Amino acid sequence: MKLATTIRFMNDDINEIENRMKEITGAEHEIISDASNHLIEAGGKRIRPIFVLLSSHFGQADTSQIINVAVSLELIHMASLVHDDVIDFADTRRGNQTVNNKWDNLTAMYMGDFLFARTLELVKGKNEEEIHQVLSETIHQVCIGEIEQMRDQFQVDQSIFNYFKRIKRKTALLIATSTRLGAIAANADQEVINRLARYGYYIGMSYQIIDDILDFTSTEEELGKPAGSDLLNGNLTLPTILAFEDSSIYQRVSRFFANPNQTEEVEQVISDIKHSDAIEEAFQYSQTYLRKALDQLDGLPNTKSKRTLQKIAAYLGKRKF
Ligand code: IPE
Ligand code: IPE
Ligand code: MG
Ligand code: MG
Ligand code: MG
Repeated sequence: MKLATTIRFMNDDINEIENRMKEITGAEHEIISDASNHLIEAGGKRIRPIFVLLSSHFGQADTSQIINVAVSLELIHMASLVHDDVIDFADTRRGNQTVNNKWDNLTAMYMGDFLFARTLELVKGKNEEEIHQVLSETIHQVCIGEIEQMRDQFQVDQSIFNYFKRIKRKTALLIATSTRLGAIAANADQEVINRLARYGYYIGMSYQIIDDILDFTSTEEELGKPAGSDLLNGNLTLPTILAFEDSSIYQRVSRFFANPNQTEEVEQVISDIKHSDAIEEAFQYSQTYLRKALDQLDGLPNTKSKRTLQKIAAYLGKRKF
């Protein structure tokens, strides 16, 4: 089933989130408002705001506050993408030119900062202090995750553990924050908040592993962003780490990382990784995390929102973009 069909019952709230997002980024400054609009209108899965909404159904939500929390999560995500595209030298995002490509790196830098700041201004009302604390901590962790990735770039000897630690920070915590804050803002029971936060965390781990697989197996056309670029940029992800089992792949990646200007061999290595067992193995890791996510839902009341969270987990396991 399509994601759009699964979440149709929340369409009013989702439309409200879209409008609010445009309102918040329609800044006094033309470049910022043009660049934000450019990105918002290009779409995206909006998976983080959807998680905020669904989690809020496990308590007593104040709709206008929940909409703001949902918007704030999508804006943090957007800000991190704008910055990420600078450090990944990406020229397309959501099928459009990236901000760094259409404008420049300086614009991307300030646009990211603008979005982070707007996020924190946005959240008011019930449990405001706790929500601010969680949002700030999440932004902090995403930054560390991305900086660690820059530090580890072109380093061939990295453990799987190092990889998991990095994706926890750069991706999983933001999704955990989405499910956690939806529940916190709705004053849900602590046990429910904890379960939803863990569901989000495990989903997030699986989400980044799948993103890293798709970088090998998919195309720019399908993804709306560059494919095959992780290895080329010196970013070691799970499929490559697992493919090092084959010593020829390890040796060729080592040679390339030692001399990143010599790209003659890279295309062949990327293709060899794509056709190796490492892709299926990495997929099994993502499935393990998805199962852990589903386990967390077991203790929650059997509502439509819970069933939707289950369906989303299944959809994310099969996603192609
Ligand atoms: C891309 O996120 C970056 C990752 C954390 C994997 P999404 O895949 O959620 O991107 P959009 O919002 O749908 O464009
Ligand atoms: C996730 O990593 C980016 C952030 C957490 C900001 P990627 O660099 O793999 O994301 P994409 O593939 O560009 O969307
Ligand atoms: Mg990146
Ligand atoms: Mg990137
Ligand atoms: Mg990626």
